[in-house]
Amino acid sequence: MKSDKKIAVVDFGGQYAHLIASRIRRLGAYTEILSNEEPLSNYESYVGIILSGGPSSVYDPGAPLLPNGFFDLSVPILGICYGHQLMMKSLGGEVVSAKTKEYGPAILEIENPKSDLSRSLSLKTKVWMSHGDEVVRLPKDFAVVAKSDNCEYAFVSHTSRKLFGIQFHPEVTHSEEGEILLKNFVELCGASGTWSISHFLEEQIQSLQKKVPTGKNVFLLVSGGVDSSVAYLLLAKALGKDRVKGLLVDTGFMRKNEVKDLMDNLHQVGFDLTIWDESAVFYKHLGSEFEPEKKRRIVGDLFLEAQGKATTSLGLDAEHWLLGQGTIYPDTIESGGTKHSHKIKTHHNRVPQIEALIREGKIVEPIADLYKDEVRELGRVLGLPERWIERHPFPGPGLVVRMIASPKTNPPKIDFANLTTKSLKSEIQILPILSVGVQGDQRSYAHCAVLNDFTDDWKELDQLSVEITNTKKEINRVVFAPGITHFDREFCYTKLTLDKEHSDILRDADAIVNQILYDEKIHKDIWQMPVVLVPVGLRENSYGVVLRPVESTEAMTANFYQMHRNILARITKELLELPTISLVMYDLTHKPPGTIEWE
Ligand code: XMP
Repeated sequence: MKSDKKIAVVDFGGQYAHLIASRIRRLGAYTEILSNEEPLSNYESYVGIILSGGPSSVYDPGAPLLPNGFFDLSVPILGICYGHQLMMKSLGGEVVSAKTKEYGPAILEIENPKSDLSRSLSLKTKVWMSHGDEVVRLPKDFAVVAKSDNCEYAFVSHTSRKLFGIQFHPEVTHSEEGEILLKNFVELCGASGTWSISHFLEEQIQSLQKKVPTGKNVFLLVSGGVDSSVAYLLLAKALGKDRVKGLLVDTGFMRKNEVKDLMDNLHQVGFDLTIWDESAVFYKHLGSEFEPEKKRRIVGDLFLEAQGKATTSLGLDAEHWLLGQGTIYPDTIESGGTKHSHKIKTHHNRVPQIEALIREGKIVEPIADLYKDEVRELGRVLGLPERWIERHPFPGPGLVVRMIASPKTNPPKIDFANLTTKSLKSEIQILPILSVGVQGDQRSYAHCAVLNDFTDDWKELDQLSVEITNTKKEINRVVFAPGITHFDREFCYTKLTLDKEHSDILRDADAIVNQILYDEKIHKDIWQMPVVLVPVGLRENSYGVVLRPVESTEAMTANFYQMHRNILARITKELLELPTISLVMYDLTHKPPGTIEWE
């Protein structure tokens, strides 16, 4: 079913394409992300095409284009932001750098409520704008459907063909009726009802049975997270549990009691895992490594080595056994899956050795087309216990990406005096370590500013955090220190290594935090909450813990979560009771500019 009526989202960079694709699937239409450089014939098999936004300007040399003849395709095409500008320019309109750059809410006024995509929209509706360029002249045969105060051509359509351009972003929830517009597009393409989890399950079972013919079996590394557990259950359902061997490599960077809990949960649905304790090897190789991409490569390689050792010892020869992985859709794109998705990080399922096996057809990734919320839905259908499904996502490399072994760096000298949102009571320090972020859709590795606890008002903290990361390029993250109203001491740096002693400290801290989230019943309000161990405390030989709760839907973008201050006080107090923890910090950074993990 998915193959005959699908919608394509062409990726022009940034993180927009994903969000659009996941929204369209939620509306029941199967969607795939394509690059802008496919041969024309590749676009022809889709019943509708959406051109995403992106960071370029259409008049930049080297701006991403589309193949000749693209706009002659007979299917409905919707250009969003950059996609809109590209469509206008390609068809003979004019695009210039806007006098007023527009970022934020705008009111869209519909002038033609009868167009295919404006049906059922209110005549005035709030939309989200984010653009520096604008269309100033329409191509021939295009007409205005709606405008906003600052944008005359906010929504346009061809008078006879099914070509539409919109300057705002219907995919973000700030565009209040964006979903109606996208639904109109799906209906116009005739793609409604082509995607649901039960369709996916049926199809995937058949396709796995073909991909893994009788005589071949699958060997799968289960990490403990929802993704690999669901991948394991799906493979077992498709092939029978005797043909799927699950192995959990205990890396030494799992959460407290994780291995036991996972065994119990899988046991409940009738499966057993083999456990392979490789912690000593992981500790030895990771040691003092701090460079995020190197850590990821080491983890990826060691996983593979462990797999090699396990397959030999379990007698699983390469001829009869394929390797299964619980890779999900965003993982492949964030590792540079299409040309314009800059490499933000190397996912551990996408290290070079794995890439080579993929090319040889030796890898099976049964959920590689799914987004996180779809994986959860599938887990439910496959009978995974609800408490396990609801677990916050946990990255494959585990606590490795939450232990910052960064050497001591000299904080840059930055003048914060000119900040407009800084109040008299606020103090700003800089941590002597670096963390990963994503700025302008590129990976960054920069310093973190620490604010004192100068206010109970999250809005004030938020504004200051946003102003700092927007105006100080050396800073990609801002945290505050709950309970510290004035910085009267220097931060102390204490070397941290990726070993058992330090991962035990983080395991304890993480377990305390998670227990409180359940006790206080806020676990479900938070999408994910990394607890990060950093080599900075307020005394010699002690460490800091950063709390990083976020709200998100697909992890492509995220907002920091605003926790009830009483709960935060309880977490802070209990963490400071750990003998080696002397500082608790709370991350105030949205994504972008900060990634969710510190790495
Ligand atoms: P960032 O830090 O890039 O993370 O904002 C986005 C989401 O991805 C998770 N993550 C990973 N998941 N393997 C995984 O399975 C990985 O290597 C990996 N790295 C990050 C992260 O926890 C967050 O949910």
